[in-house]
Amino acid sequence: MMEIHLISPFDSISKSYLNQSMMRIAEEKGLVNFSFYNLFDYADPPHNRIDDYPFGGGHGMILKPEPIFRAVETIQNENDSIDKIIFPSPDGKLFHQKDAEKLVSSKKIIFICGHYKGVDQRVRDKLVTNEYSIGDYVLTGGDLPALVIIDALVRLIPGVLNTIESAEDDSHSNPLLDYPHYTRPEKYKGLKVPEILLSGHHGKIKEWRQKKRLEKTSVRRPDMIKEKN
Ligand code: ADE
Repeated sequence: MMEIHLISPFDSISKSYLNQSMMRIAEEKGLVNFSFYNLFDYADPPHNRIDDYPFGGGHGMILKPEPIFRAVETIQNENDSIDKIIFPSPDGKLFHQKDAEKLVSSKKIIFICGHYKGVDQRVRDKLVTNEYSIGDYVLTGGDLPALVIIDALVRLIPGVLNTIESAEDDSHSNPLLDYPHYTRPEKYKGLKVPEILLSGHHGKIKEWRQKKRLEKTSVRRPDMIKEKN
């Protein structure tokens, strides 16, 4: 079973998402276990400050190192070794499907979710093993990026999805984007499902789907086609 530990000043954000839908089912099946650590619980009383002003001046507050080190030490002391400590950050390496595929073999992963201007660099130097950005835009905190990464990797754990194919057909597992999908009714608001999909001719359906993949990819992501050749 994969253990995922989340450290955040606002752990209820992740709790709420991970307690629903596929993430909840994955946990109920015993394939993954989520644990949450609220950063304020590891800060020094009586003020429980988790952030402070930056040395050298500048705008914004910086997350202090001690509460984060303590939270990680708590997880370390619990039992076996930690495979990865991930820090989502807009200056990290761009996260790809390939990274999710690599992370799936980890047994124990910690996510450190930053907030405010940043985190004390010593946390990144001494604790963090991987820094990922989920895209070239800046969010207010690391919780959503951590959830994006967790979702992408948990659905790859064998047994989480019903069939292997449902993950293998994905837009970014395949070198081309996904083809269009249809379900009942055959006709809706005057829009008809393509005839070929009703034909029962598996070979022709496969051909049609491949053609649609190519069309979509060349319009939306020509870079993916260039990358391949
Ligand atoms: N934190 C804030 N913005 C982020 C991004 N784009 N990716 C990862 N972590 C972030």
